[in-house]
Amino acid sequence: MPDKTPSAVSGFYDGIFHYYEAVNSFLTLGLDDYWRAKAAEFALVSKPAVILDVCCGTGALTLELLRLSKGRIAVIGADFNRSMLAKARILSPEAQFLEAEASHLPFPDDSFDALTISFATRNLCQGGNDLVEYFREFRRVLKPGGAFIHLETSQPHNRFIRLLFHAHSKLMISLVNILFPKTKAAYNFLSETIATFHTPEELLKIFSRAGFSKVEVLPLTFGAVAIHKAIK
Ligand SMILES: C[S@@+](CC[C@H](N)C(=O)[O-])C[C@H]1O[C@@H](n2cnc3c(N)ncnc32)[C@H](O)[C@@H]1O
Repeated sequence: MPDKTPSAVSGFYDGIFHYYEAVNSFLTLGLDDYWRAKAAEFALVSKPAVILDVCCGTGALTLELLRLSKGRIAVIGADFNRSMLAKARILSPEAQFLEAEASHLPFPDDSFDALTISFATRNLCQGGNDLVEYFREFRRVLKPGGAFIHLETSQPHNRFIRLLFHAHSKLMISLVNILFPKTKAAYNFLSETIATFHTPEELLKIFSRAGFSKVEVLPLTFGAVAIHKAIK
């Protein structure tokens, strides 16, 4: 059983940050940018002035938020992995990035109009960590009425599509493991978390337990991915 503590998870990204975007694009058949663009559109609906992109990685969503808002808003990206952040700073020099653990964000209560997270929640509910606690922390830094936009892989309702999606993920990750055998542990971890992640309905309950209201779900690509929007 691989170690899934936060420090072990961060270690996985030290091994894959060089080709993170290229592998993502390969694994998702190029759809990951489209999904992030949809999440960014959702986040910008309420015309926020300042957005926090938690677990920003190399800043793909951070950059999309800036691009779609034509640089008219402030976007801060936060992540605990220095290698991912260093790359983010190169790819999006106009954004602000800082090192932070998602469970202890270095901001006062009621700081942000919107908070986003993309393809990172699967990392947070490993090693016995409670997702509700993370979501409470996200809610704390949101202003009252602020929106939490959550983009993550999901579990398609249709059993056949779900099997197909999981088989596709496993196959693609096996190919990545053949190409890059040194990062096998990291990608096997990601593959495992796709198969075991929450259904949209389970996530709805977690949002409610964390104190969010008005939760909406937008399934994308036959439910392989879902955007949840919740309000503080
Ligand atoms: C799969 S990447 C997603 C990056 C980016 N949001 C995207 O859409 O490409 C997950 C990121 O979450 C970060 N991460 C995982 N657990 C974290 C935690 N507890 N606190 C802060 N960052 C974390 C990792 O360092 C990694 O950069």
